[in-house]
Amino acid sequence: MAEPQSTLITGISELVTNDAERGASGERRASGERRAYAALTDAALVISGDRVAWTGPAARAPAADAVVDAGGRAVLPGFADSHAHLIFAGERSAEFAARMAGRPYRAGGILVTVEATRAAPDAVLRANLRRLAAEMLGQGTTTFECKSGYGLTVPDEARGLALAAEITPEVTYLGAHVVPPEFAADPAGYVDLVRGPMLAACAPHARWIDVFCEDGAFGGAEAAAVLAAGAAAGLGTRVHANQLAPGPGVQVAARAGAASADHCTFLTDADVDALASTPVVATLLPGAEFGTRQPFPDARRLLDAGVTVALATDCNPGSSFTSSMPFCIALAVREMRMTTEEAVWAATAGGARALRRDDIGHLGIGARADLILLEAPSHAYLAYRPGVPLIAAVWQAGRLAAGSIP
Ligand code: NIG
Ligand code: FE
Repeated sequence: MAEPQSTLITGISELVTNDAERGASGERRASGERRAYAALTDAALVISGDRVAWTGPAARAPAADAVVDAGGRAVLPGFADSHAHLIFAGERSAEFAARMAGRPYRAGGILVTVEATRAAPDAVLRANLRRLAAEMLGQGTTTFECKSGYGLTVPDEARGLALAAEITPEVTYLGAHVVPPEFAADPAGYVDLVRGPMLAACAPHARWIDVFCEDGAFGGAEAAAVLAAGAAAGLGTRVHANQLAPGPGVQVAARAGAASADHCTFLTDADVDALASTPVVATLLPGAEFGTRQPFPDARRLLDAGVTVALATDCNPGSSFTSSMPFCIALAVREMRMTTEEAVWAATAGGARALRRDDIGHLGIGARADLILLEAPSHAYLAYRPGVPLIAAVWQAGRLAAGSIP
């Protein structure tokens, strides 16, 4: 069998690897913080086929079939966006404008999108989903999770998930987003549908199950029941937790052994302890606080307690209509007091942890060759130059997938 095509990217001013296993001169380190934030300067990287084959000092780089000169730019792992709602139709800009004029955010706006989504043909949903996925890729996101949750009938949830599964393996069944109007008088009946026939129709298309555990959506016991049914059907679990007020979401996630508790905006000390003492990742979604003018989550409190933190966009037409991980990194640094290193780690390796993936989020040897060439000399520019398009090129599984080599 022929050797796979190899590409050497050299002239990298800063190569963020998140691979602390390898020291600055490429030597292998014993163990310890294997996937902690780590970066090399004056570095090079070799892609072989769809994998990272070598990283180290540019002066010691091996030969390859093709050479790309990064020209003093930075290279980082592609972003892993572990929380997005991309299966929907319509938009809610008027609701956003009203909020900015002083109206509070209520989860009720979700039903406006449910109506539009139910009415939309597959082709419209597919085109919208692919447009947003392309936006993400162009902004450096090489893996994204995608939730249902705007269909809320058996056929509408199942078709949305089938569309998502066409373009990402990280598909999440969120039938328990809100109780739809036809079940307003019988919320328990809706929970039975979500954990029964709707789950049976959706599980074949999904890897994950999620529940919006919040006043106005689903309570702690209902959320736990939905997650248990999903787990019994072979799905991994994740939770929308403590977004709008304190509540049981984080504890439900911890008890369910969830991969991630998402939002984590209103936490008690017991919630922070639960996150610190279990492998549950706290996924922070600052786009949602930006879009709803809520207080940002206290990232420092979580990091200082030893919680694993991820950053994601929460891209959805209501609370957070951004597909931009660079924007979320800038918010996390400026508004949540994360260091630039912590924010970049959370958007790459943190997202990978939240998706329980070991092949992405870092550029260790053998990782999938998902990488970003920045139009800047260091990762810090993502927050230092907010709102500026800095993603020059994106490789996905070893292929140039967006942008171009300068
Ligand atoms: O993550 N919290 C629940 N779901 C979304 C909001 C969806 C919407 O407003 O349409 C969120 O913020
Ligand atoms: Fe969400």
